[in-house]
Order: sequence, then structure tokens, then C-alpha cells
Amino acid sequence: MPKPTLASRAAARVAASASTQPLRIAMVGHAFMGRAHSNAMRQANRFFNLPRQVVPQIVVGRDAVRAAAAADQFGFLESAIDLDHVLSRDDIDIVDVATPNDSHHAITMAALRAGKHVLCEKPLAMTLQQAKEMAALAKQKKLRVGVWHNYRRAPATALAQKMIARGDIGEVRQVRAVYLQDWLADGSIPASWRTDKKLCGSGAHGDLNAHLVDLTRALTGLEFESVCGMQQTFTKERPTGVGKGKAKVTVDDAFCFLAKFRGGAIGTYEATRAAPGRKNHNRIEISGSLGSIAWNLERMNELEVFLHDSPRDAQGFRTVMCMDSVHPYAANWWPDGHIVGYEHTFVHHLADFVVALCANQPFAPGFDDGVAVQAVLEAALQSVERGAFVTVPR
Ligand SMILES: NC(=O)c1ccc[n+]([C@@H]2O[C@H](COP(=O)([O-])OP(=O)(O)OC[C@H]3O[C@@H](n4cnc5c(N)ncnc54)[C@H](O)[C@@H]3O)[C@@H](O)[C@H]2O)c1
Repeated sequence: MPKPTLASRAAARVAASASTQPLRIAMVGHAFMGRAHSNAMRQANRFFNLPRQVVPQIVVGRDAVRAAAAADQFGFLESAIDLDHVLSRDDIDIVDVATPNDSHHAITMAALRAGKHVLCEKPLAMTLQQAKEMAALAKQKKLRVGVWHNYRRAPATALAQKMIARGDIGEVRQVRAVYLQDWLADGSIPASWRTDKKLCGSGAHGDLNAHLVDLTRALTGLEFESVCGMQQTFTKERPTGVGKGKAKVTVDDAFCFLAKFRGGAIGTYEATRAAPGRKNHNRIEISGSLGSIAWNLERMNELEVFLHDSPRDAQGFRTVMCMDSVHPYAANWWPDGHIVGYEHTFVHHLADFVVALCANQPFAPGFDDGVAVQAVLEAALQSVERGAFVTVPR
């Protein structure tokens, strides 16, 4: 069969989108993640043959001038500050929640009640209880929902998932995962919603361990049985950023925990925003009975793989460059070896969500996955208080 050309892909896309209504998205929040999500909205139909056209319709913010500027810059058709009015509109299909953690529950619940499909940022909620309510309402309303755990959708992590599922490394025995950043190592960095427990729930834990927990579940299929953690806040107060005052830091700078999985595997986890020199070092290594796999976001298109498939004197870790057309997502982009980056993980996430939505199929990670992540995060927080392993509720 001849390879599809760009022109034939475009023709197929036009034919597909002409026959159906577009999917119009209202995006709430328009800073870091707003930028990443809206880039995905602009790229998804250009690189994936999706059954419906994605339209970045409206940015919802709290300040009219800033929301309008964001809409203009990110390629949305409109902006607004009245979320209730936006939710009352029939032409909005999906609500994208790209706001700080304390608002995920309220915005998502309102969107679901209004009959909108929802993509929500991680961590899904502030508490396990909130996450369960969000998952229950989505189920009751039969709406399609997803959590933006985008790291599942790098070509290399998707390949790791495939290799582990087909048994390449045998039975998974150990997971060691670290997510290291350094932007809070400096005590002069001002306080923000990310250092205020009331607005974010926890620090490096909810911010970074949330990704590691999701990545573990996605890649290995393992479920957490019990966890035992410790946390530390090195900088107890920070400049407010306005005037001379100081604000108390009410979340962890670093959070480490041990994990036991159902079935006997074990794992270690470390999240920190105070590791000088580490910018976005998100690394997971999985050891199985027959081999090992390791991935690091900072070299995101490579997968380190060890398999017992060579003579013993020639064995060692090899580096698989995951940008061959046989690798997940790679053929949608450029010729072999022409690499992709951080932003592409969001494009893949949105493209898969649209496919699932149009086919009326479940999307992973959905809110049940968000609940599972929240259960691990919450159990780890409780374990710090108790100084002992805490069982993760099923
Ligand atoms: N998937 C990832 O890799 C990733 C990376 C960074 C952040 N996040 C998550 O994304 C979310 C947003 O983080 P960010 O880095 O974009 O934050 P940010 O501070 O850069 O942006 C937050 C945006 O939300 C707006 N906002 C705040 N409260 C609001 C409210 N109540 N209603 C409407 N708008 C409100 C702000 O004005 C701003 O536009 C957080 O939950 C965070 O954990 C995920």
C-alpha cells in the first residue's frame, strides 16, 4: 500500500471534518498549561486524522483584558470572564481546566452538570473525596473525561508501555522513579499558589509525584498496595512578591516515599523542587525478571533498554531512539529520527482524547485513573503523619 502523502492525509481530514460538527473547546486558565494545551488544540488536526475538527473557541479567565490578550495570542476566537455563561452555551463541547488545583473540582463539576466533556489538569483534585465526586458525576452524566498526565504519551513512554505489556522485560519487580526540579532551591523565589497548601494541596508531592504515580500505573499496569513517605520544607517562608512581607510556605519542598504494589513488586519515589542543577529530571526505571527499561524526560525520545538477548560478553543497556515510524505517534510527525519535544505529548493526549470521544470509548487516563493517583498521594501524606506504611484504598 502506498504511504499516505501530506496531500492525501489533508484530503482525508477535510472529508472527515466536513461530515461532522467541530468540537469547540472552552479553556479555563491561560498561563503555563493554557499555552501548552492551546498549542495542542492548534496542532492536533494538522498532524492526526481526527474524526472531528478541534476548535479553540473561548478562553475563560478572571480578568477581561488578560483573557482577551491570551485568546488573541493562543488563537482562540473569543474570551470571557463569566464561566457560568460559557457553560450555558450549546456550542461548547469540551471544557479544558488549566487552573490551579484548588479550582479543578468546582470548575469540573459545573462543566459536567452543564453536559460538557472535560479535560482536567493534574492532580485531578485537592482530596480523594473530591476526585471521587468528579469521577462519579462524569459516569452518571456519561461524559468523556481525561486528566492531563501527558508524560504517558511521549513516543518512548508509549513504547515502554507496549514492551512491558508484551512481556519483553518479564514480570515487573521494581520501579524507581524520581522527578527533580530546582526552581525552589533559591529562597528568594516568591511564594505563589504552588507554595500555599490551601491552593495546591501539597508541594512537590501533588505536583511531581502525581506524574510518577500515573506513569507507573500506565507503563506497568501495577496497582499501589501501600506507601510510606517522608517530606521536608527547607525554606519555611518566602517573599510575597508584593511589598516587603513574607508568606509562610505550607507545602513540602521534597517528598519521598516507598511503595509496595499488589502482587509483590516494590518501588521508590522522590519528588523535589529543591535539587540544584536538576531542571525537569523526570526519570523512571523499571526492572523486570528478564530485563529493564528506563526513560528520562530530559532525553525524552530515547529509551534505555536491557534485554538478555545477546551473548553475555556483549550485553548491556542499549539506547533505542523512538522516532522511527514504527514507534508510537512518530509517523504522525516527521521523517524517521526528526525528533519531537515536550509540547508534542499534549498534542498526542488531545488527539487520543478526540478519537476516544468520537468513538464513544473510554479514554485513559480518565477520572478513575485520577482517583487512583489521588488515593496514592493521599495515603502517602497520611503515612508521613503516622510514620508507618498506609494502605492505599482500592
Ligand atoms: N501536565 C503537566 O505537565 C503540568 C505542568 C504544569 C502544571 N500543571 C497543572 O496545571 C494546572 C495549572 O498550572 P499552571 O502551571 O498553568 O499555572 P499558572 O499559574 O501558570 O496558570 C494558572 C492560570 O489559571 C488562572 N486562574 C487561577 N485561578 C483561577 C480560577 N479560580 N478561575 C479561573 N482561572 C483561574 C490564572 O489566572 C492563570 O491563567 C495546575 O493544576 C498544575 O498542577 C500540569
